[in-house]
Order: sequence, then structure tokens, then C-alpha cells
Amino acid sequence: MTATQAKPRQPDLKTSLPGPKTAEIMARDQATLSTSYMRPYPFVPDFGKGVWLTDVDGNTMLDFFAGIAVSTTGHAHPHVVQAVQRQIEKFTHVCLTDYPQEITTSLAERLVKHVERPGEKWRVFFSNSGAEAVEAAVKLARNHTGRQHIISTMGSFHGRTYGAITLTGSKTKYKRGFGPLLPAVSHVPYPNPFRPPLGSTPENCGQAVIDHIESLFVGILPADEVAAIIVEPMQGEGGYIVPPADFLPGLRALCDKHGIMLIFDEVQAGMGRTGKMFSFQHFDVQPDIITSAKGIASGMPLGALLAKESVMTWPVGSHGSTYGGNPVAAAASHATLDLLEGQVKHEGCGDSLMDNAAQVGDFILGELKGMQDEFPFIGDVRGRGLFIGIEFVKPDGSPDGALRDQASMMMFEKGLLNLDCGEAVIRISPPLILTREEAATGLDIMRGVFQELK
Ligand SMILES: Cc1ncc(COP(=O)(O)O)c(C=O)c1O
Repeated sequence: MTATQAKPRQPDLKTSLPGPKTAEIMARDQATLSTSYMRPYPFVPDFGKGVWLTDVDGNTMLDFFAGIAVSTTGHAHPHVVQAVQRQIEKFTHVCLTDYPQEITTSLAERLVKHVERPGEKWRVFFSNSGAEAVEAAVKLARNHTGRQHIISTMGSFHGRTYGAITLTGSKTKYKRGFGPLLPAVSHVPYPNPFRPPLGSTPENCGQAVIDHIESLFVGILPADEVAAIIVEPMQGEGGYIVPPADFLPGLRALCDKHGIMLIFDEVQAGMGRTGKMFSFQHFDVQPDIITSAKGIASGMPLGALLAKESVMTWPVGSHGSTYGGNPVAAAASHATLDLLEGQVKHEGCGDSLMDNAAQVGDFILGELKGMQDEFPFIGDVRGRGLFIGIEFVKPDGSPDGALRDQASMMMFEKGLLNLDCGEAVIRISPPLILTREEAATGLDIMRGVFQELK
């Protein structure tokens, strides 16, 4: 580095963590908020700018998790802030279930353009969250097919409402004590090439899962009673897993054969994060129904159910929501799409945030893979774009959740906000405005932690 080159911005820790104000708010939080909230890291945000978040004690951290893959455009992006402000000054709420609003009509028109193939028409139902979009998807699939059963995957996460939590297959603590859950739901393994299920190999694990479903149809579950298969095209909470290339097309063929709706839950991996608008678009496959939320509106609460027109056949008044498709959230979503599509440029991020996610993601993946020889406890590095998982393993190759927890906390203590997922994985899901230089700063922190753990 020459004397004239500025040193890339670094996390700035002014107190030990937690600082005094953080500790005080955390204590009040614990005294009054629901006992169900997890508080994995002592961090209380005060304000954010771009990929940086500053806590109430003035400690500035680099954000590598984006509020669980939500803050697509970073914190307080001026284009998003302006769009939200403009809409609030016009009107905040006139229920979309009863009255059309141009801002949501044009948002729906914009979203379907990203999925429609020649000769196809899609429609949109707006919700406030991912779980509600999933609920809507299940209701629609049942209503459309007149069938009841839903097949989901192990390791999946689909939300916390009763239907969504039934579909979820990642942790028993989400279900314990809450039953009875939704009837007529089955789970099948997810084809994780790093830990192939059903005695399969990394190469044939996708086909093995499809064969397994077919075997259920022979002995256990009548295929003509199955309304839908719901799957994350890239599994999020379960460990940031990319399935083999033939899995989703294989599921499509299976669904076509049996008249089953194929639902892709894009809540976590969608909206440009993997370098394409939806993560399934890395594979040659088209679902019947898509659920979206999280990154769709840069942190404003919005979810969307997209479905083929031929599938969205539920009658007038059969489904709705007071706030779903709220115009302020819709304004934030338009602004997010402007940046994702590249109609509005973000300095330093190339043609579009989607391209940036692909390029910076490739850089991070390459760097992390390059560290694997030096740090054998990094068993697997995987992902697409800025949807990246690092799996920690013991010398015998089994998942090392304790080491992952330690690494995650050490990264946090050095100013890198991160989040775990799966049994032993750290997920990297930063805002899509992350530059290569900012990525390198995060990678330096990670390398430092890996060296201390060696
Ligand atoms: C794939 C997936 N679906 C659904 C949800 C639920 O979304 P929400 O928390 O907005 O209800 C999540 C949340 O993490 C998710 O990752």
C-alpha cells in the first residue's frame, strides 16, 4: 500500500463488548420482552450506514449478516430512505385487500417480469412476512389441487406460524410443546452434497431424494393426495446448502408426473442475493409458486407469494391481509429493485447489486476455499453470490458446532457481525452493496480468528 492509498475502513471498537449502554438496554430487554427471544451477541444498534452498524456505545461493526439476509441495500440507503419518505408523506395505509394501489400494482408487474417465461402469466399476493407468504402458498396449493398433503424437507426453515413451523425441519425446539401442528405434512431429506443423505454420494444425492419420494408414493403416501412439495432451492437456516444441479429439475418432473404443485421458498436466498433474482434461476427449472420476503424491501416488512395464473385460482375474498402490500413497504421494494436491477447505480458496485453479489461472492468463496488447506477445521465452503456457508468439522469430519460457536463469537468480538446456521455453519449474508475491499476487511478478521483457533 502506498502512502497515498487510504487504508480500508475497519471496525471501530470504542468499548469492550458489551459497552455500558448496551448492557443496560440488554438487561431491560431481558426483563420485559418475550422469553422466546434469543440474544446470541451483545449488540444494540444505534444507527447504520451502508455495511456498517454502530451500537449505542459508539462501536462500529462490519455487517456480514444483514439482519438475516434482509438489508439488501445496506443500512439507510439514500435511495430507499427517499422512496419511503415520499410515500409516507402521500399515504401510509389504505388496505390493499379492498383497494388497489398503483405502487403495489406496479410492484407486482415488476416482480412477475423476473419469473414469467414466454407464454406464461403470473400473479402476486402480498403479505407482511415470509411465514405469511408460506402460509398463503400452502393454502393456495390445497385450494387449487383439492388435495391436502404437503411434503417439505429436513433442515428447512419456513417460518414460525402454525403452518410454516409444521413445514420447518431444522430444529425440534421450534416445535416442542406447540403441538398439535398442521396435519398431513411429511419431511424428506435435503440433498446436501457435503453430507449426502440416504447412503448416496455428492453426485447422486439429488436423485436419491427423488427416488425416496417416489418410494413413499408406493408404500406410504398416495401421490394423488399430495398438494405440494415445498423446498428452498438453496437451503438457508439448514446450513446454506446448494443442492446438486439435477435436484430441482428432478423434483419438477416428479411433480408434473403426479399433478403436484412445486413451491420454491425464496425468502432467504432470493432477491438477488445469489447473483440472480431468485436462487432457483441458477438451475433450469420453473416452479408453480414462489414465496419471497426478507430482502425484497430492504428491511421494510413485506412478503410476496408469486404463482402462475393457472394456479392462482382461489376465489374472491378467500385470502387477504390488513397490512400486506403496505404502500410504504412497496416503495422500499421498488427502490430495492431499482438497485438490484441496476436502474439506479450504487457507487463501487458495478452494473447492479445483483452483479455485485455475484462478483464479490465469488471473491469471498475463492478466498475462503483458499484457506481450507491451512485450517483443516473448515470442512466445507459453499454457496452462490453473497449466500455463503462455512462448515466447521472435527478431525473425524463430523460437524463441530462448539468450534463454530467459538469462531462466531470471536469474529463478533473483533467487530464482524455474523450469524450461525445449521449444525456447525457460519453464514455470510451481507448487504449486497458490499465491495471487494469491505469483503477483504471481513475476510482478514476471519483469517485472524482461524489462526487463533489453529
Ligand atoms: C426460507 C425461509 N422461509 C421463511 C422464513 C420466514 O420468514 P419470516 O421470518 O419473515 O416470517 C424464513 C426466515 O428465516 C426463511 O429463511
